[in-house]
Amino acid sequence: MKRATWKSKIGFIFAAAGSAIGLANIWRFPYIVGRYGGAAFICIYLVCLLLIGFPVFISEVLIGRETKKNPAGAFKKLGKDSFWTGSGLFTIITGFIISSLYSVVAGWVLGYLFSALFGHLHHFSSLSAVEETFHTFVGNPFWGLGFHLFFMLLCFGLLFLGVREGLEKGSKVMVPFLILILIALAIVGVSMPGAKAGLTFYFKPDWKLITPTAFLIALGHSFFTLSLGQGTMVTYGSYLSSKDNIPKSCLPIALIDTSIALLAGMAIFPIVFSQGLSPTEGPALIFYTLPLVFSQLKAGYILALLFFLLLTLAAITSEISALEPLISYLIDEKKWRRKKTVGVVCFGAFLLGVPMALSNFIAHKFSIFGQNLFDLVSFFALDVMVPIGGFLALILLAWRWGFKPAYEKLKEGSGALFQKNLLVRAYFKFTLKYCAPILMIFIFLKAINVL
Ligand code: PHE
Repeated sequence: MKRATWKSKIGFIFAAAGSAIGLANIWRFPYIVGRYGGAAFICIYLVCLLLIGFPVFISEVLIGRETKKNPAGAFKKLGKDSFWTGSGLFTIITGFIISSLYSVVAGWVLGYLFSALFGHLHHFSSLSAVEETFHTFVGNPFWGLGFHLFFMLLCFGLLFLGVREGLEKGSKVMVPFLILILIALAIVGVSMPGAKAGLTFYFKPDWKLITPTAFLIALGHSFFTLSLGQGTMVTYGSYLSSKDNIPKSCLPIALIDTSIALLAGMAIFPIVFSQGLSPTEGPALIFYTLPLVFSQLKAGYILALLFFLLLTLAAITSEISALEPLISYLIDEKKWRRKKTVGVVCFGAFLLGVPMALSNFIAHKFSIFGQNLFDLVSFFALDVMVPIGGFLALILLAWRWGFKPAYEKLKEGSGALFQKNLLVRAYFKFTLKYCAPILMIFIFLKAINVL
C-alpha cells in the first residue's frame, strides 16, 4: 500500500501548526506562567525554545522526512539497533498516554462549550460560584467520562478520513479561525479596567521565582507545545516529500505557536488581576477566570461560545496528531488497515483516559504522593517522558546519524539561506550537538537534585 503524503506544503504547515497550537498554548501556558513566576518564566521558556525546542523540532521533522516511516521504524532505520527501535517505541507510547490525558481535559472544554451554548456560562456573580460550577462538573463522573468519550469520537471521525481529507483539510479551516477569536479575546482582556496589574505581572520578570523545577517545566512545555518528544512531528515529517523545505515550514509554525501562547496570556492575566483572582490557580485557571469575565460583558454569551469553540477546535487538531504516531506504526509495521487501526487506537486511548477522568471524582480516595492520578500522570508524561523522547531524537540525529550527513539532508529542499550560510549551520551545529543535550542533562539533574 502506498504511504500517505500531504497534498501540499501548506497542508503540512497547517496540520503541524494545528498540532502545535492546542490546549498547551491556551489552557496550560497561562497557568504555568502564573505558577512559576510570570515574566521570568516566560524568559526561560523562550530560551528553552530557541536553544532546545526549535532545533529538536527541525530534527524530528527531518528524521521523519528522511525515513518516511513511523517513529519506531524511523529510529530503527537511522539508529540501526534495537536500542533505537525501543526509543522510537517509547516516543509512540508517550504520545498514546498523552492522547488519553489530553482527551480528558479536552472533554472538559467540550463540556464547557455545551454549557456556553445553553447560556450557562455568563451569569456568574462571584468567584465562588464559578469554582463551585467547575467542581460540580469535574466531580461528576458521568460528565467527565461522557465528554471524554464524545471528544474521542470527534477525533475518531477526522482520523478515519485519513491524512488529506481529515488531518489536512480539518486543520486548514480550524487554525485561521482560532487565531482570529484569540485576537478578539486579547483585545477584550487588555481593555478591561485594572488590566495593568496583569500586564505588569506578565511582562516584568522577577528572577527570584525561578527554580530548577521551573526550568524543567519550561523545558517540558517547550517540547509539549511543539508536539515534540512523542513521535508526532516525526510522523508528520514522514508525510513530507524530499523537496519540501523543512526550516521554511517549521519557523512560521514555531512563531505562530509562541505568539498564540503569549496572546493567550495577554487575554487571561489582565482578567485575572482585574477580577482580583490569584494567578497561581493552576489547571482550573481558564475555567475560573473566563466565565467570570463573560458574565460581565454584554457580548458574554457569544464570546463564551466562541472561546470554547476555539479551544475545542485547537484540541481536536492536537489530539489527532498525538494519536497518529501509533496509528502510523500499526499501519507501517503491522500492516493493519487504516480504518481498523483508527478504531482500535481511539478506543484504547479512551479506555486509558477513564481512570484519569475519574481521578478527580475519586481523588480523595486514591492519591499517590499526595497527588491524584491525573496530576501524577500528567507530570510524568509531560515533564519527564516528553523531554526524554525529545532528547533521544536529538542524540539520534546529532550523534548516531551524525550532524554532518543530517545537515546535508536538511539542506535538500531548503532555500539559499541554508546552502552556504555558515551562521545558520553554526547555530544548528552548536544547538543540536552541544548546547541542547548538555542543557537538557543539566536541567534534569538539577530537577532531581543531583547537582
Ligand atoms: N502541542 C499540543 C498543544 O499545544 C499538545 C500536543 C502534544 C499534541 C503532542 C500532540 C502531540 O496542546
